[in-house]
Amino acid sequence: MNLLITGGTVIDSNGGRQADVHIADGHVVETCVPETTIDATGLVVSPGFVDLHTHLREPGKEEAETIETGSRAAALGGYTAIVAMPNTDPTQDCVSVVDFVRRQGITAGLCDVRPSGSITVGRRGTQLTPFAELAAVGVKLFTDDGNGVQDPQLMRRAFEYAKGLGVTMAQHCEVEALTGGAVMHEGDCCSHLGLPGWPALAEELMVHRDIELVRLTGAPAHFLHLSTARSVELVRAAKADGLPITAEATPHHISLTDDLLRSYSAIYKVNPPLRTMDDVDAVRAGLIDGTIDAIATDHAPHVSESKEQPLDQAPPGMVGLETALGVAIGHLDMPLADIVATLSWKPAKIAGLEEAHGRDIEPGSPANLTIFDPDEEWEVVPAMLASKSHNTPFVGVPLKGRTKHTILNGEFTVKDGQATR
Ligand code: DOR
Ligand code: ZN
Repeated sequence: MNLLITGGTVIDSNGGRQADVHIADGHVVETCVPETTIDATGLVVSPGFVDLHTHLREPGKEEAETIETGSRAAALGGYTAIVAMPNTDPTQDCVSVVDFVRRQGITAGLCDVRPSGSITVGRRGTQLTPFAELAAVGVKLFTDDGNGVQDPQLMRRAFEYAKGLGVTMAQHCEVEALTGGAVMHEGDCCSHLGLPGWPALAEELMVHRDIELVRLTGAPAHFLHLSTARSVELVRAAKADGLPITAEATPHHISLTDDLLRSYSAIYKVNPPLRTMDDVDAVRAGLIDGTIDAIATDHAPHVSESKEQPLDQAPPGMVGLETALGVAIGHLDMPLADIVATLSWKPAKIAGLEEAHGRDIEPGSPANLTIFDPDEEWEVVPAMLASKSHNTPFVGVPLKGRTKHTILNGEFTVKDGQATR
């Protein structure tokens, strides 16, 4: 398809400018004879978004999400690439499962689906997975997400192997000895409600441990979904020391607080939990000053029957792919180009996808693009979500910014706000 995008504001790592964009043969080109023209007046044209943290649930929990439905939700959110989390059933801990996800992404996906691998076999925390074999089939991020690796000796070995292979360990920071039975953030609200709490310290201790393991081994680490003020401070100091550390924050940790649990609704149960306004402010500040590199959704679909259970039984997690942009623009006092950086080229680099995604919009770049209205104010309607699960916590939360078109390898995956398949 030869495509011309006229009248938009192009935003990439060079900043913003008014420019027309020509696309032919799946790439941005100098000029082409257009078959289709998109009027992007008032819209932003940016490199496609990259999500470092998507739970697609296939294989194993296809009733909650599939690679097809999850990648459709991603495309509608403006994403051209997503990293698939390994807590599937079976776990993405070997080449056969990773390869299944990768192939399913190619045949059924509406974006580039890149499987991560688990750090330990079955995510059980006792035996490392075959990093070299997994790296050889393209796995670049390893994580036991859903759980942190508790054993410091095993984690030290993981970092040592990672360094030789050029892959990154991504940690879900939670010292489980401190969080048993927890349903929400440990603090005033939790004491008042009489519910078991998940202390900030449980995250911060593991952030600290892994910073010191990075200092020891020289291997890179990525911290998933940072949620506390002290975690942000620890990462800020580690970066100032020049350590190879990156970090992400979720849309819900920059917009929602623990007092929502007063409703006793499990829609607000997530791991790590929603924290206090001070934490929200600190995480926002971390994004603003670059301590936190990326916004990552932790899109975690769960069927309604499971989320309708009492707080202690319901699983943690919330969907986020279709609302991330709206939350980010609506809740971050940050220049638009910096917001796009946290959604696109910065996560692309962390995922090792910078050849194909997050590239500057110039001739020769693959046409993986998002075209969005930065000013549209809207409210999410759960039933309208493309995700197979509708467990969004953002009902009634003002959102600003919405994807209009998403282009993957020069073809529309979303056109006029609708998925093309
Ligand atoms: O809230 C969460 N849900 N946190 C995690 O770490 C895992 C995720 C899931 O898989 O549902
Ligand atoms: Zn996690």
